[in-house]
Amino acid sequence: MASENIYILGIESSCDDTAASIINNGKVLSNVVANQKIHEEYGGVVPELASRAHQQNIVPVVHEALKKAGISKDQLHAIAFTRGPGLMGSLLVGTSFAKSLAFGLDIPLIEVNHMQGHILAHFIEEDGFNKPPFPFLAMTISGGHTQIVKVSGYFDMEVIGETIDDAVGEAYDKSGKILGLGYPAGPEIDKRAQLGNPKAFSFTKPKVGGLNFSFSGLKTAIMYFIQRETKNNPNFIAENLNDICASIQYTIIGILMDKLKLAVKETGIKHIAIGGGVSANSGIRKALKMGEQKFGWTTYIPKFEFTTDNAAMIAIVGYLKYLEGTFSESDVTASARLKI
Ligand code: KG4
Ligand code: ZN
Repeated sequence: MASENIYILGIESSCDDTAASIINNGKVLSNVVANQKIHEEYGGVVPELASRAHQQNIVPVVHEALKKAGISKDQLHAIAFTRGPGLMGSLLVGTSFAKSLAFGLDIPLIEVNHMQGHILAHFIEEDGFNKPPFPFLAMTISGGHTQIVKVSGYFDMEVIGETIDDAVGEAYDKSGKILGLGYPAGPEIDKRAQLGNPKAFSFTKPKVGGLNFSFSGLKTAIMYFIQRETKNNPNFIAENLNDICASIQYTIIGILMDKLKLAVKETGIKHIAIGGGVSANSGIRKALKMGEQKFGWTTYIPKFEFTTDNAAMIAIVGYLKYLEGTFSESDVTASARLKI
């Protein structure tokens, strides 16, 4: 295999973030993300707008990543890109850009599964961060995903549970919309939850068997609850906002923890790695600490910039595949429903 100093460019464009990162032997030299503010006005991601914004952002974002890393494109060894899952129009922008650049530079092209990226972000070299040992359980929780994966090796993964409808972040964002909060609502609900009473109101947990999740029923229950209460008291939301947020958070964290406990019980694995934007949540962090103390778990959460959608996680997978010599053909295409 080539020289010791391996430079990989990672490109991520699966949803509403255009991102590029340079990784040098597993260490991040740059991690650039262009967020698309445009979607805030609509209270959710609008696919057509996302795709157009990716087209505008991708060249400057890649330039910025190279500049911040202090290298030129001729020093790259390979280009890794998100092949899926995600929004087709968004994926196509990153895929075609990565293909043309790899072709132009005559270097390998490496396809990456976005969900594997969230998991393998735990293998980015970081001072003071312990990597999880195999096998471990990975729970990816974000606006787009809710999944528990048994990870036996870098590329030996088995999805053992996932949502059958909304993702957990969506449950936060849709609840926030009902409450009149801005998008995305997760951070504000979390902030208010810490000031409220988690037992003030109760919402029934969904009855989904095994390790799968469901969050759409919760959203409906919250909607009816708010409709009912505001009929009696038009100021209900304003007067009880912190308690409502605390009660929603209590229910959501309860759902996540029930499934995690079951996954540990079924697999006997106590090393748990968390990824996705919802990993920033104070409730899940507290619950995981409790799991460490009460059940002997060891939990792993990478730096926040590596848990939300980012390209460093794509570049690290690219690096691991590069070491194995796993490259993609030049006719590889984006795949919106790509499975782990
Ligand atoms: O990973 P991410 O940045 O993007 C994707 O969805 O892929 O995750 C964003 C999601 C949003 O739904 C947002 O509301 C949620 O993560 N989120 C939170 C918190 N911070 C972000 N949810 C609950 N508590 C938080 N502190
Ligand atoms: Zn993601």
